[in-house]
Amino acid sequence: MRSLYTVLTIVIAMVIGTSWEASAMKQEQRESNKALLLVTFGTSIPEAQKAFTHIDEMARKAFPDLTIRWAYTSKIIRTKLAKEGKILDSPELALAKLMAEGYSHVAVLSLHVIPGEEFHALTKNTNLFSLMEKGFSHVLIAPPLLSSADDLQKVADAMLKHLPPSRKPNDAVIFMGHGSGKHPADTIYLAMNAVFSKKDPYVYLATVEGHPSLDEIIPELSAKKVKKVFLLPFMTVAGDHARNDMAGDDPASWKSLLTAKGFSCEAVMTGMAEYPEIVEIWFDHLREAIKKGW
Ligand code: CO
Repeated sequence: MRSLYTVLTIVIAMVIGTSWEASAMKQEQRESNKALLLVTFGTSIPEAQKAFTHIDEMARKAFPDLTIRWAYTSKIIRTKLAKEGKILDSPELALAKLMAEGYSHVAVLSLHVIPGEEFHALTKNTNLFSLMEKGFSHVLIAPPLLSSADDLQKVADAMLKHLPPSRKPNDAVIFMGHGSGKHPADTIYLAMNAVFSKKDPYVYLATVEGHPSLDEIIPELSAKKVKKVFLLPFMTVAGDHARNDMAGDDPASWKSLLTAKGFSCEAVMTGMAEYPEIVEIWFDHLREAIKKGW
């Protein structure tokens, strides 16, 4: 009887020991093997930061096995934040740190809106990291929000779902996209505007730096005898452009320009990344890339 107890005790101890060891190994793997680098343009506006906090919280739930890091592509914003004591890495520095820490798998998610300048620089430099000796075994990059015709439909549906309840069918909505005067991917905004107008003829998308511009939209508002216009950011965060160029009191802001032309204006200060449906589209890109690349 006594020997049976002894054997049992040993067996139990072995089982506990093994499972402890296994979970310790899993822990080790989780902390050291695979990382997710979330890359965005960045913002220096503290109130706009909540959009990134939202992405971060969703990422921790959706990808619990990955170590999550952030990087900002904008040097101007990183420099500005550093002066306030907030240190944000560039994607290159964040990748170098992950490499030095011994991560084998790295997924880079481009939290940009279009595959424009920022995304191309990020792709080029991320690919260079994959060439390094004794570095990562797997490096992948997941593309920005608007990367397929299907994305445009999904994004339009998500954005229309979150229009302010006070908006009446004859009130116009203008989303403010960033736009790019220098990159061919700027044409995606023209496509996005077409997708919106097909779903709702009073919904438009215009951009700050590319096409369509606000000037191209205003005649259409007049032709439709629009009285009220809702202005919303079509950017990851409701940051500097949304606060100043869209809703600011400066005479050159969209709100001022439209008000001067007789439209009554209401601005909504919610960044796209505050909507879970939008974040899910980015995460789907990541899931797809991981399925193919790891
Ligand atoms: Co800008």
